[in-house]
Amino acid sequence: MKYKACIFDLDGVIVDTAVYHYKAWKRLANEMGFDFTEHQNEQLKGVSRMASLELILGWGQVTGATEAEKEEMATRKNLWYTDMINQMTPDEILSGAREFVQACRDAGIKTAIGSASKNTPIILAKLQLTQLFDAIVDGNSVSKAKPNPEVFLKGAEALGVSPADCVVFEDAVAGIEAALNAGMKAVGIGTPKMLTEADVVVSGLDKFTLEMLEEL
Ligand code: BG6
Ligand code: MG
Repeated sequence: MKYKACIFDLDGVIVDTAVYHYKAWKRLANEMGFDFTEHQNEQLKGVSRMASLELILGWGQVTGATEAEKEEMATRKNLWYTDMINQMTPDEILSGAREFVQACRDAGIKTAIGSASKNTPIILAKLQLTQLFDAIVDGNSVSKAKPNPEVFLKGAEALGVSPADCVVFEDAVAGIEAALNAGMKAVGIGTPKMLTEADVVVSGLDKFTLEMLEEL
């Protein structure tokens, strides 16, 4: 095989958690007396928890919150979010995701998760996917957010492969940038209009094959 490893973003690639993030953030905003749209929520994809909060507070023109207050808000949102995440079942795995990761493994290609989410372990457990990955790098082990390449470089390191031998699967613009900044190929999950920098874009992993991987 041309590539030795595939590194997958979690939210938006393996499972659609954006709807749960939106519900929980919206509840927080509503408690503070404002609202934001699903369209605005698109801008939160791939963005870390605290950076998301900053964007939302900006939309609500909430100023002057202390760091401690912001921490409390993020914790409150995360409790609502994890309440929903805890109800998830393997039925929610996005179409073709499990099959493609398994196909990589069967072909001798290593697999890793590279996600900004601190909830990665619980989500993978609920989806019964933990065993499918040789390495898991998430928001608990990185300090620099995408588009910084740290999460993917750590993934390559954990797998013992060089960045040039890795392909990243990402649904967020910042994630595609992070992959390219790491010196890796980037497969966009979404639309070519949004993910203009990706090497190739498909609507989901059900539309991607090992043959397409070889052609990158
Ligand atoms: C990313 C999501 O994967 O993880 C973002 O796309 C989210 O929407 C970020 O804010 C952090 O997630 P968590 O679970 O640590 O709050
Ligand atoms: Mg994502």
